[in-house]
Amino acid sequence: MISKKMEKALNEQIGLEGYASFLYLSMSAWCDSEGLKGCTQFMRRQSEEEQMHMMKIFDYLSEVGGHPLTPAIKQPPSKFTSVQKLFDEVYAHEQKVTKSIHKLVSLAKAEDDYTTFEFLQWYVMEQREEEDQMRTILDRIKIIGKGPQSLYFIDKEIEGINAEALANEAEGEA
Ligand code: FEO
Repeated sequence: MISKKMEKALNEQIGLEGYASFLYLSMSAWCDSEGLKGCTQFMRRQSEEEQMHMMKIFDYLSEVGGHPLTPAIKQPPSKFTSVQKLFDEVYAHEQKVTKSIHKLVSLAKAEDDYTTFEFLQWYVMEQREEEDQMRTILDRIKIIGKGPQSLYFIDKEIEGINAEALANEAEGEA
């Protein structure tokens, strides 16, 4: 049985993952309107991933006798000034999620809730990978620079990173 405090904290995390899913969906729409096919696909896949993160907690809460709540999600921004700024925002959001996951881990430890502690380890690893991926993207955007065709090359780069992530996912499922 899960404590009320942990149940509340996990429900808040459901909200954070849900917001991330909508934020990335909104970003995919902006990328599409800018003609950035690779970025659109990347953000769309990220959005679906966040939806899965949200549902994993939702199902976990049910499994341990808690009550998962569907979150009220505030509308994310729909306009972004540049691809660089968009990925800066993604990175900042992922860092916020990581902090929140770490707080949950601390709470699970403090409550001797080893079931939740163990459940959260998957998220600790996932956040490490997501932050690493975002840093890689920001580094490549910086390397490509601001030349006349930079957007084309950035989009191609992101398309490649997305294809790599999809192949890794498929490998994980096989
Ligand atoms: Fe589920 Fe990327 O935070």
